[in-house]
This record gives sequence, structure tokens and C-alpha cells, in this order.
Amino acid sequence: MLIILKAIEDIAYKIEKAIQHEDLGYSEGQNSSGESQLKLDVRSDAIIEHRFKNVSVIKDIISEEKDEIMHLHDKGKYTVCYDPLDGSSLVDVNLSVGSIFGIYKGSLDGEGLVAAAYVVYGPRVELVWVQKGQKPKLYYAKNQKEFSFVGEITLNEKGNINAPGGTQKHWEPHHKALIDGLFEEGYRLRYSGGMVPDLHQILLKKGGLFSYPGTLDKPKGKLRQLFEVLPFALIYTMAGGEAVDSKGVSLLQLKPDHIHDTSPCFLGSRYEIQAMREAYGV
Ligand code: AHG
Ligand code: MN
Ligand code: MN
Repeated sequence: MLIILKAIEDIAYKIEKAIQHEDLGYSEGQNSSGESQLKLDVRSDAIIEHRFKNVSVIKDIISEEKDEIMHLHDKGKYTVCYDPLDGSSLVDVNLSVGSIFGIYKGSLDGEGLVAAAYVVYGPRVELVWVQKGQKPKLYYAKNQKEFSFVGEITLNEKGNINAPGGTQKHWEPHHKALIDGLFEEGYRLRYSGGMVPDLHQILLKKGGLFSYPGTLDKPKGKLRQLFEVLPFALIYTMAGGEAVDSKGVSLLQLKPDHIHDTSPCFLGSRYEIQAMREAYGV
């Protein structure tokens, strides 16, 4: 599986270069979620597809920017689901963005998820890698050739960061009570609109809550299960936190029907997920 990590390191360098130097404009296309595509979304997807074509253990790939699953190697064992450039609409205002990868073996669901990774393109390029049963590992891009290991990531029982997603006017009353309750306790608002830096910050600050709930306008939430929600659910769970849906059920129980299915999601340290369960009565 580490051959996939090596490929992700190479991909990170190439996408970082593309972000630094390429056109930030919109392409003509839309992705399967009906979102307009930046040329960088398409470019990042092509970089990943090209690099994964040299990794024979990868059987298929699924991308936020592709309508259907793409077959790569008959003898491959893994399906890699990825969001090539998450938060891409933030690139033209020079905020941090990321790439997210879920590595699946057997079933395309929480059970089949065996590893996950993300890359943050920020002031520094950083990468987090996790294999099921192990602690998440943090690396940073030392130079154009290698990532160096920084340390393992663990979450405390409680934090003080609140990252509330979704359109506030469409929040359900019990969700608003959860978010306001945390602010009442003195939590700090830290929300950039990019889930990768927003979730990375909570991990490195060792606690807090990231939520993207079901809302009146989007009852199933916005974030895609296979290549946004599930990879982070594995990382948060392996770091000693929790990742649940709006029924308080672990997101690692998710079984998407379609490759672009979404789910409401709550990821954080244990205290904040307990607060969610109390507010939602689950
Ligand atoms: P993407 O750019 O890949 O479509 O993902 C953006 C997502 C995620 O990064 C973030 O948490 C969420 O969109 C923000 O949505 P809102 O703007 O509705 O808060
Ligand atoms: Mn995304
Ligand atoms: Mn994206």
C-alpha cells in the first residue's frame, strides 16, 4: 500500500506546481455534482489519473471530477477514490486547498476503506496518511524530492475550535442550538470553506468540531461519502476522535449507493461529538 503513498507524494508536488503557476479560470464543464469546474480541478484530476496509471496495485479510480469509475489495472487490488482539488473555489482568493484520497479494498464503503490520505496546499505542503488500525502520520514537503515525517496525530478529549459548515439560514433548530452552545462555551470560529485546511487545523490543534449537517436545502449534506467524508472519518477515528452522521452513527458504517452520494457529517474530539448527540437527541 505504501506504493500508493509514494504516488500521492509525487502528485502533491505536481499539483502544488499547477496551483502556483497555472490558469485559475473556469473550464466549460460541470462535475457530477453539478458544480462548475475550474481548469485546475480538471488539471489536478489529470495529474492524479496519469500518476496512478503507473501504480499496478490500483484496479480502479473514482474521482469527484469523473462521472463514472475508471478501470486501470486488471490485477489491481485497490480502488482509490479521490477529490483532486478540494475547496478549489478558494484558490483564486489564495486560501489553502487540498487533495483527498480514500483507498478501498473489496467493498466501496466504510468497511472496505483500508487507508486514507490528504494533502494541504498551504504556506507549507503537508500530507497526512493513515492505515486502518494505526495512528495518522503527518509529513511535510521538505523539498521537491521527499516528504519528511513529523509525527503521529492524536486528538484530545476536548478542543476549542468550531468549524460550522452549511448555509446557516437553512440549519435546523437543534443544529443551531449545538453550534451556538459551543460558542457560548467559548469555542473559536475557524471556518475557511475548505474542508481540508478546516479539518487539518482541528487535528493539529488536537480537538474541536467540524460539522457539515443536513440542511433544509440539502438534507443529505454536501460532502461526498467516498472521497471527502469517509477518508476524514478514518483519520479522525484513528486519531482517537469520532466521525458520525446526523443519527450519531459512525460514518465508517456508511454504504453509499452511488459513487457521488453525500452525507451529513460531524467530525471531532469525543466531547464535541457527545454534545452533538445531546443536541440531536441520538
Ligand atoms: P469542492 O471544492 O471539492 O467542491 O469542496 C468544497 C467543499 C468543502 O471543501 C467545504 O467544506 C465545503 O465545500 C464548503 O461548502 P460551503 O461553501 O457550502 O460552506
Ligand atoms: Mn471537495
Ligand atoms: Mn474538488
